[in-house]
Amino acid sequence: MNLARSRDRQVYLRSHPVLFALLAATRRRPVVRLGRTVLVHGPDAYREVLTRVPLDRTAAGTTGGAAAELTDGGLLFDQEGAEHRAARRDLATALGSEGVARLRPVWQSVLRERLFPGKVVDLVPVVRELAGATAAALTGSSAEPLALALAAFDAASAAARDHLPGLLPHRRDPRAADRLNAMLPDSLDAMLTVAAVNTTVAALPRAAAWCARAGLWPEVSAELAAELLRLTAPSPILPRVAAADATVAGCPIRGGDRLVLVARHAAEGHRAVPADPAFAQQAVFGAGPHACPGAQLARVQLTDFLAALAPYRPVVVRAEVDRRSALPGYASLLVRKG
Ligand code: HEM
Repeated sequence: MNLARSRDRQVYLRSHPVLFALLAATRRRPVVRLGRTVLVHGPDAYREVLTRVPLDRTAAGTTGGAAAELTDGGLLFDQEGAEHRAARRDLATALGSEGVARLRPVWQSVLRERLFPGKVVDLVPVVRELAGATAAALTGSSAEPLALALAAFDAASAAARDHLPGLLPHRRDPRAADRLNAMLPDSLDAMLTVAAVNTTVAALPRAAAWCARAGLWPEVSAELAAELLRLTAPSPILPRVAAADATVAGCPIRGGDRLVLVARHAAEGHRAVPADPAFAQQAVFGAGPHACPGAQLARVQLTDFLAALAPYRPVVVRAEVDRRSALPGYASLLVRKG
């Protein structure tokens, strides 16, 4: 378990070294102010910000701001009130139990075809295809799954470079969002595709690597999948901006302050048993009215992915961290049958 944890921590630290080293160093306090930026680490403070503090959903440098650019006006991440509730209702149906049952054969067929072809397989392109095929089915796009996944990847890394200027290496690609939009029926789909594909491509290989290194293949289950999502926190930080003054964990927050909500720490990924296990497993999907509507799909998809691998007891042959991706993950993860 310790090897699995320390290798996974390297994925997180190496992907965005300056930012994540700063977050690791300040983790022990629930809320830390650095000028006009407030780092929110503690589970209670994280929940409080997401459920109680008014957030500016269109501010530049937030997920909502990036979604607004991507979708030519902005949907979901930056919506409030009735408009947001109506869009959420449609999504809740598309991503609820029936929606998941409808989409499941799409990713199961990718898994059947791609696992396990020969002695060694790179799991990253397999997951890209699985995520691209799922997003295409969800949005009604006829784009080729791998091409769609790569366009979503480029659009997200361009947006992340806008979120965290100077902290991320490589230059931003200004046409990435246009390329993605051209593959999709409407602009809401671009935001949905970015949210679904990049988290999946980050999450599934890290969970498989963890299972391989910790010898967890015989224990694969829905509960293990949910716990691996907690431990890896695929979307580790949520950049937000306060819309009004508030106090969180004793720390005064002013409207306009930049909030860095650390989902990884709110989920207590560093603890084998968190203080509130149910909240910790939810925390990696956010909280409150904007919490991730894809959580159920993500958990079922990860369970299926691990179950498809488990009979081969894969071991990691070589792993390369992706320095270009918006979320910490692998550029390639070669595994062989164990
Ligand atoms: C391991 C996989 C995933 C993780 C860790 C994850 C995590 C998150 C997080 C942390 C948020 C922000 C929540 C908040 O502000 O409170 C979010 C929002 C969102 N996610 Fe996910 N997500 C995952 C998979 C997916 C999938 C598969 C889909 C769609 C099929 C999806 C669609 C969305 C959408 C549409 C939003 C915006 C919701 C809103 O603003 O109302 N996510 N996700």
